[in-house]
Amino acid sequence: MRLAMVKLGVLGSGKGSNFAAILEGISSGQIPARVEIVMSDHANAGILELARSSGIPAETITEPRFKTRLSEDIEAAVAEKLKAAHVGLVVLAGYMRMVKAPLLEAFPHRMINIHPSLLPQFPGLDAWKQALEAGATETGCTVHYVDDGMDTGKIIAQERVPILPGDSPTSLHARIQAAEHRLLPRVVAELCSEISGL
Ligand code: GRF
Repeated sequence: MRLAMVKLGVLGSGKGSNFAAILEGISSGQIPARVEIVMSDHANAGILELARSSGIPAETITEPRFKTRLSEDIEAAVAEKLKAAHVGLVVLAGYMRMVKAPLLEAFPHRMINIHPSLLPQFPGLDAWKQALEAGATETGCTVHYVDDGMDTGKIIAQERVPILPGDSPTSLHARIQAAEHRLLPRVVAELCSEISGL
């Protein structure tokens, strides 16, 4: 029996290198899914450009009131769009806002995030800088389910990354991102296989 492809919705605020890694995982056959819609809270985000150039519907989320979350009605509209696209798994790939009830309740246990540290260490912004400033010798990246806290949801998988003598924030972030681009597609692939087998 051929299992149905899982439909992915991707939310991001930045350049979209993790989204690119997901697209690669799909085209190589590692991830049994297709991306139905990409949404960003920044009109000029690279992730939207990448989606459009890949022929994937891409939409800007316009939020005039808040910087760190969406207003409830706007978040509800995002949930509606994802539902209308029959999304089975939502991937936050560099999405820089907190998620609240309208989205969480629309996708219970079906929304994951990639974070650039070994959670629960260094939640929040610029986690690689936090690790350097703390004098850590190791950090990494984490894929976790999303809840309404700041990077507090249940951890699914992690990859360790060494911090080397002489590392700058830029060199460390680049090493973490290389790990993210391995970890996120692997977890998305595993979850998609699980979901399509249900
Ligand atoms: C990644 O480092 C991710 O961990 C963090 O935001 C960054 C997004 O990068 N949450 P990109 O847009 O996927 O290149």
